[in-house]
Amino acid sequence: MTAALAPSVPPSPGLAGRTIAELGERARLSDIYGPDGADVYHDLSAGDTGEVRELVRLVRNRPGPVLDLAAGSGRITLPLLALGRSVTALDLSQDMLLLLTDRLAQAPARLRERCSVVHGDMADFRLGTEFTSVVLGTTSVSLLTPGSRTGLYRSVAEHLAPGGRLLVSCLDRGEGPDEAVTEAIGASGIRYRVHDHWPVGADHRTVTIMPAELPQGPVQVCTGRVGVVGAELLTTELTSAGFTVLERHLLTEPGQRHRVTLIEAETTR
Ligand SMILES: C[S@@+](CC[C@H](N)C(=O)[O-])C[C@H]1O[C@@H](n2cnc3c(N)ncnc32)[C@H](O)[C@@H]1O
Repeated sequence: MTAALAPSVPPSPGLAGRTIAELGERARLSDIYGPDGADVYHDLSAGDTGEVRELVRLVRNRPGPVLDLAAGSGRITLPLLALGRSVTALDLSQDMLLLLTDRLAQAPARLRERCSVVHGDMADFRLGTEFTSVVLGTTSVSLLTPGSRTGLYRSVAEHLAPGGRLLVSCLDRGEGPDEAVTEAIGASGIRYRVHDHWPVGADHRTVTIMPAELPQGPVQVCTGRVGVVGAELLTTELTSAGFTVLERHLLTEPGQRHRVTLIEAETTR
């Protein structure tokens, strides 16, 4: 099994790193998908629905069971269940899956009963069943090393039904400085400061999330270091792995810092 999550919290560069240094022992550092970070990630991402709408539109065209890879707290899983599909939600983080399980417990039984939650590694899984759609959203392919991505493509090809589709999103860097600092409001109403440190040409970027207003006492700081997998690289890798790329849907407006592309591919195996 190949774990994409860093075993320890990566150091934050730039302004985020300087802020953490100034906080000293008040900074409570955690991995973005770990026990503390999972709640923050879930809170922040809940309102981000653009990609989910596009994924649901593409899956709707193709009846049959769906595999949601790196499903996390179920931001994509729940809309797929609402489409009336059986969905298998796979993730490496028990903390994220706990959030998903909680959400399923509160969902109507007709949705909950169609969901299988699997603790596993998207780079190496064997589920003993086939899917008409395999979804890997939120540009989470960039959480894997190049070697792990080979395992991902092999595992996906083994689980796609004939004529099935892989829908995978990826991220290219658009305009902007090395470090962008934005303020975002979570579904809970909490305001966060999000640092995205991504110099041009770098092979990874570092995302650091802290409260918008730093409190006097302990300050929770979540950090994730992720690789960079853009549309050209992903297309090349998928082609070498025996996939045919059918469509590339650009999901963001030109001129933005992040260019998200949703790639639709089928296996020629
Ligand atoms: C950016 S979050 C996306 C979660 C969800 N799809 C969403 O849209 O909110 C990335 C997820 O990938 C998971 N992850 C990281 N490495 C993984 C791996 N090797 N296998 C499965 N899941 C992994 C993390 O635990 C996290 O839940």
